[in-house]
Amino acid sequence: MRNDFLIFAQPFIEEEEIDEVIKTLKSGWLGSGPKVAQFESDFKEYKNANYSIALSSCTAALHLSMLVSGIKPGDEVITTPLTFCATVNAIIHAGGTPILADIDIDTLNISTVEIRKKITSKTKAIIPVHFAGRPCDMDEIMKISSDFNLKIIEDCAHAIETVYHGQHVGTIGDFGCFSFYVTKNIVTGEGGMVLTKNNEFATRIKTLGLHGMNKDAWKRFGDDGYKHYQVVECGFKYNMMDLQASIGIQQLKKITPFWERRELIWKKYMIEFKDLPIILPPAPAQNTIHGYHLFTILIEKELCGISRDEFIDRLKDYKIGVGVHYLSIPEHPYYQDVLGWEPEMTPNAMKVGRSILSLPLSAKLTDNDVDDVIQAIKEILN
Ligand SMILES: Cc1ncc(COP(=O)(O)O)c(C=O)c1O
Repeated sequence: MRNDFLIFAQPFIEEEEIDEVIKTLKSGWLGSGPKVAQFESDFKEYKNANYSIALSSCTAALHLSMLVSGIKPGDEVITTPLTFCATVNAIIHAGGTPILADIDIDTLNISTVEIRKKITSKTKAIIPVHFAGRPCDMDEIMKISSDFNLKIIEDCAHAIETVYHGQHVGTIGDFGCFSFYVTKNIVTGEGGMVLTKNNEFATRIKTLGLHGMNKDAWKRFGDDGYKHYQVVECGFKYNMMDLQASIGIQQLKKITPFWERRELIWKKYMIEFKDLPIILPPAPAQNTIHGYHLFTILIEKELCGISRDEFIDRLKDYKIGVGVHYLSIPEHPYYQDVLGWEPEMTPNAMKVGRSILSLPLSAKLTDNDVDDVIQAIKEILN
C-alpha cells in the first residue's frame, strides 16, 4: 500500500519552468507582454497554424470564437453531451442555443450521424470535442460544414498533440481552442489559446480578449513610451499573463517526451488490463496521432460486480486518485431546469457517463506509481 495519495493528473513542473517564472518576476513585466508573444509564436509553430492568440482559458477561447463566428440569440450550436460544462456554457454565454448530438459508443466522440439529424435552419456552428485526445471524424464534420455553411470550432482541450490525417487538430475547422489548465498535457496554471486561419478573426479575438481595446493597448506600457488606445468594442478581460506564458514556454519544449511517457503508460495499462472485466478505451484510429490525455475505462456492474462509484471509493482506499470525464451534460440540474434536458435524450452519453472513470496518466507518474494503479485495480476486481 502507498504512503502518499496519488493525485490524479498532476502537472510535471521542473527547474526550467521555475527559473523562467523567476526571470519574469525579476523583469518587472508580469502582465501580457513579450513572454505571451513568444508562447503564441512557439505554439503556432508547433501546431503549424496561421494565427494564435493566448487567452486566460479554453473557456474564454470558446466564448470568443463563438462571438467572432457571429453566434446570436436564436442561433443553434451543436456539440457533444460527453464534455466539460465549459463547452456548453460558452454557447450560452454567446447567446446561442446548445443542441446535443449523442456520441458514437465506440469512439466516445460526437456521432456525425447524430449531428446530421440535429441540423435545422437555425444551426450556425458545430463544436466537436476531441475526447480524451482521440480526434473526431473531421473529414465528415468538414463535409457537413460545407454542406450547411456552418462554422467549426474545435474544442481541443484534450488534444494538444492530436493529429488527424496528417493535420494538427485545431487547424482543421475555423477555430481551435486549447486549454493549459493544471490537469492538461502541458500547463500554464490557468490558460488557453485560440488558433485560426483567418486574420480578421484573429484581430477581433485579440481585441475582444482585452476589453475591446485596439491593438496599441497591448503596447501601452512598453519601454518606448506611453501609447494611447481606443476602445472599439465592449470586450472582456481574457488576456494571458507573462507569468503564465513563462511556464507554457518551457512546458512546450517538453511536449514530445511528456507525450511519449503517457503513451508508454497507456500501452502498459492496455496490456495489464486486457483480461479484466472492464471496457478499455478505444484504440487510436488509423492515420491519426492520439493525444493520450485521458485513459478512460468503463466499470459496468453487470460485468464486474461493482458500480463505478463503489470502484472509485475502493481506489481511494488504495490511495489512488481518479477522475470522471464526464457525467453527460443533461445529468446536471441547470440544464434540466433551464433547457428541459433529460439524460435519456442522449442515451449513449448517459450510459458511458454513468460508468466511465479516468485513471492517472500524467507524465509525472513514476514506474512505481503506475504499478500501484495496476495492482490496486487487479486486487479490487479479484
Ligand atoms: C473538453 C473541455 N473543454 C473545455 C475546457 C475548459 O478549459 P479551461 O479550464 O481552460 O477553461 C475543459 C477543461 O477541463 C475541457 O476538458
